Amino acid sequence: MKSLANKNILLGVTGGIAAYKSAEIVRHLKKSGASVRVVMTKSAEEFITPLTLQALSGNRVSTELLDTESEAAMGHIELAKWADGILIAPATANTIARLSSGRGDDLLSTVTLAFDGPISLAPAMNQAMWRDNRTQDNLNKLLTQDFGICGPGSGEQACGDTGLGRMLEPLEILEIFSSSFDKGVLSGKNVLITAGPTQEPIDPVRFITNRSSGKMGYSLAHAAIEQGAQVTLISGPVNIEPPSNCNVIAINTAKEMSDAVKHHIKEMDVYIGTAAVSDYSPAEVKDSKIKKAGDNSSMILELKENEDILKFVSELEDRPYVVGFAAETDKLIENAENKLKHKKLDLIVANDVSDKSIGFDSEENEVTLITKEEKQLLKKQNKKKISKKIIEFISGRINEQNN
Ligand code: CTP
Repeated sequence: MKSLANKNILLGVTGGIAAYKSAEIVRHLKKSGASVRVVMTKSAEEFITPLTLQALSGNRVSTELLDTESEAAMGHIELAKWADGILIAPATANTIARLSSGRGDDLLSTVTLAFDGPISLAPAMNQAMWRDNRTQDNLNKLLTQDFGICGPGSGEQACGDTGLGRMLEPLEILEIFSSSFDKGVLSGKNVLITAGPTQEPIDPVRFITNRSSGKMGYSLAHAAIEQGAQVTLISGPVNIEPPSNCNVIAINTAKEMSDAVKHHIKEMDVYIGTAAVSDYSPAEVKDSKIKKAGDNSSMILELKENEDILKFVSELEDRPYVVGFAAETDKLIENAENKLKHKKLDLIVANDVSDKSIGFDSEENEVTLITKEEKQLLKKQNKKKISKKIIEFISGRINEQNN
């Protein structure tokens, strides 16, 4: 188990028979150097006394949301600010349901709402309750919101049934929980990301461009940096502040983007092409502003095809892990699969841009991750969360390749 030295851990104990194991969890947490505070639900007190957990943690156990005395000592907001991580063990089916619906009607649920950090659940319930679709749906909702899960284990249960649902042993739980503090699955990796649109000049005052806010690329840059990567961001003109700790290269045209990519690609472990690169640019750029004829005649603009940057990268002999984006208005999966194959990508992120609530300027996105072997839908959620999952997916695949 990784050290939890100097970490402030809030242990949530809810009402299941496995609550007796919480005492052991507190003991191990203390032993690994953590400061521990315990929050118990009302029903947890039927299984283990606050006094036991207080004696083991060395801190007053909190049980009430609306209690002047405990709020004065350390209220729900202070507890959320104090904690570096929350572990809920045991997490009953009822707790999982309440957390997934965002309830804030007792101290533990309120603290989790106010907390912005790793929360792990150690489920404990009867095997039929665990298998029930409602429990699984509630749990999946929490997992897409960055909750971690420790277990459950399989075996004989207190009620006599056998199956999945038994709470893991304290040390098994802490092994998983402590790894949620690990930083940097991409630590030591170089990641090149292209973002935003390109602008292809027609004359000094006009250009051709694509719709792209750059949000997805910038958010992926943040997520990769958070995972310890060294990020180079080659960006077309956008209105977003770039992350402070990354190398930003501002470009305008597809040719400039392509040159910048070629310049930086050598050292890269991962290439992510989110940019909406203009497929064509004017065959000739006029030095002075084109005047309209003013006689209702039509104007023909000759365009030449730009290089496919993504394809260039994937055809390199010593290529990085190559990720493309497919923004499609129809036949999403079919078109994305064709691009995956044609551009020889490791991964393509398919994005339906005909749906106004996702993509382009929106804060949310829903994408399907497609590789040769698998398809994974990341349901509609904010771009920050989607980015985190895409980065986790990529790092998982790179690590597989390296093993
Ligand atoms: N792309 C690129 N260079 C180009 C065009 C696209 O690197 N000249 C990359 C984009 O950054 C994206 C992926 O290719 O990751 C798919 O872009 P998209 O415009 O959807 O695909 P195209 O290949 O241009 O196909 P089409 O426009 O016909 O759908």
